[in-house]
Parts: sequence; C-alpha cells; structure tokens
Amino acid sequence: MKKLVVFSGSGMSAESGISTFRDNGGLWEQYRIEEVATPQAWKRDSALVQEFYNLRRKQIIECQPNSAHTLIAQLEEKYLVTVITQNIDDLHERAGSTEVLHLHGNIRLSKSSGPNQEKAYYPIEGWELKNTDLCPDGLVLRPHVVWFGEEVPMYDVAMQHIAEADILVVIGTSLQVYPAAGLIHYAINAEARYLIDPNAAELNVPNSFGVIPMNAVEGMMKLLEELR
Ligand code: APR
Repeated sequence: MKKLVVFSGSGMSAESGISTFRDNGGLWEQYRIEEVATPQAWKRDSALVQEFYNLRRKQIIECQPNSAHTLIAQLEEKYLVTVITQNIDDLHERAGSTEVLHLHGNIRLSKSSGPNQEKAYYPIEGWELKNTDLCPDGLVLRPHVVWFGEEVPMYDVAMQHIAEADILVVIGTSLQVYPAAGLIHYAINAEARYLIDPNAAELNVPNSFGVIPMNAVEGMMKLLEELR
C-alpha cells in the first residue's frame, strides 16, 4: 500500500460548523491571540483562557464530522493513511481515521500547567475544565493545546511521516503558522501532492502541487476521482 499523508487545518472542519481562524468572521477577529492563546495569557488570566477553550470544546462536542472527514477515513481501505492535523478537534478520529497526529494538541485532553516533564494527558469529562481541576502533581490542569510561543512536540514525527509520503494532501489551511506550515516542504519523496482549499490561489505552495480550489467536502470528492 502507498503511504498517503493528509495535512489538515481549520478549513477541514468548517463544513462541520467550526469557525476557521483567519477567514472573514474567523476566531481571531473575535479574540486576541495574546489574551487567550499564549503562555503569558495563561499567567495573566487563566480563567479567561479556560473559558475560551471551554467554549471551543463545547462547540466541538456538539458538532459532527463532515463527509470530507469520512472520505479521508475511508482512504484507509486503499492506502496507509496518516492524518497530521493542526486542528484541536477530534473530528478526524470520530469519522474513523485510526492514525491521527495532533500537531497543536487535542482539546478533549488536559495536562499539567507545570513543566509537565512526563507528558501525561488526561481526558476531560464533558466540556468544562475548571481552575479547581488539578493534576496528580497538584497543579491546575490546562487544555492540551499548543499555544503561540510554545514548542510543537510532534513536529519531528510529523516531518518524518511527510518525508516518507507517496502522496501528500494539504487541506483547509492558510499555511500562515510556522513551524507547521513548513512541513509541506519535506514531501521530498512524494509522487503526488495536492492542495484542497477554496482560497487556494492565494496560498503559497510550490508548483509541484495539484491545486483543487474547492471546499473540503467537494474537494475530497474531486481528489478521489484524481487518485483513481
Ligand atoms: N473547506 C476547506 N478549506 C476551507 C473552508 C472549507 N469549507 N473554508 C475555509 N477554508 C480555508 C481557508 O481558505 C483558509 O486557507 O481554510 C483555511 C483556514 O486558515 P486559518 O484560519 O489560518 O486556519 P489554520 O491554517 O488551520 O490555522 C493554523 O493557526 O491559530 C492557529 O493554532 C491555530 O492550528 C491553527 C493554526
């Protein structure tokens, strides 16, 4: 079986009803990154940060995977599929994908707000994480998300998958956030690379990419025709 790697961003979940970050009306128009998504924000007002992610988690739990997630899961019938997602939602898993690497964390999990040497993650029951919820080390539990200014611990693993990919599918990401966006350049062995995004013409990808300028759902159907 060929190895197919999907690299997804927030546009992947847009048709499930979850806002993207940088489109018109996106999340970063409603919130300031420095107030909710940095280690400094957590130090300054952890309750506000918890509230921001509690709202995200509540919405994600209420949403369902869309058919683009399902089509990606079904690719496992023909390919060795690894999904590398920048998304903190769990819609790829809920659609049935079995190998999903969360580059920016997974909002359904929590971790210690301390240095967290042992990298232990704890499932969150329901949607709400409170500042009174503590880790076994006695520190407050924080969402398992990678904030701006933090390391991306899964980066090297993701890079390795992309370097080994026969086919790379980039879908629903503006490729503006590094180091994640740099991953697409490691697909040195790929025989085919695709970009699915309604705004594809504006995105900065090498000419080697086959561009499918469509939403995720429609774009995945088109991709399946091309892979046939
Ligand atoms: N289907 C596919 N793509 C879509 C759709 C759709 N229905 N709707 C919008 N898009 C595309 C947009 O054209 C854009 O290129 O999704 C992309 C969304 O880009 P961003 O909002 O920048 O999201 P993303 O690339 O995932 O952001 C990266 O930034 O804030 C951080 O940590 C956060 O992981 C996130 C990272």
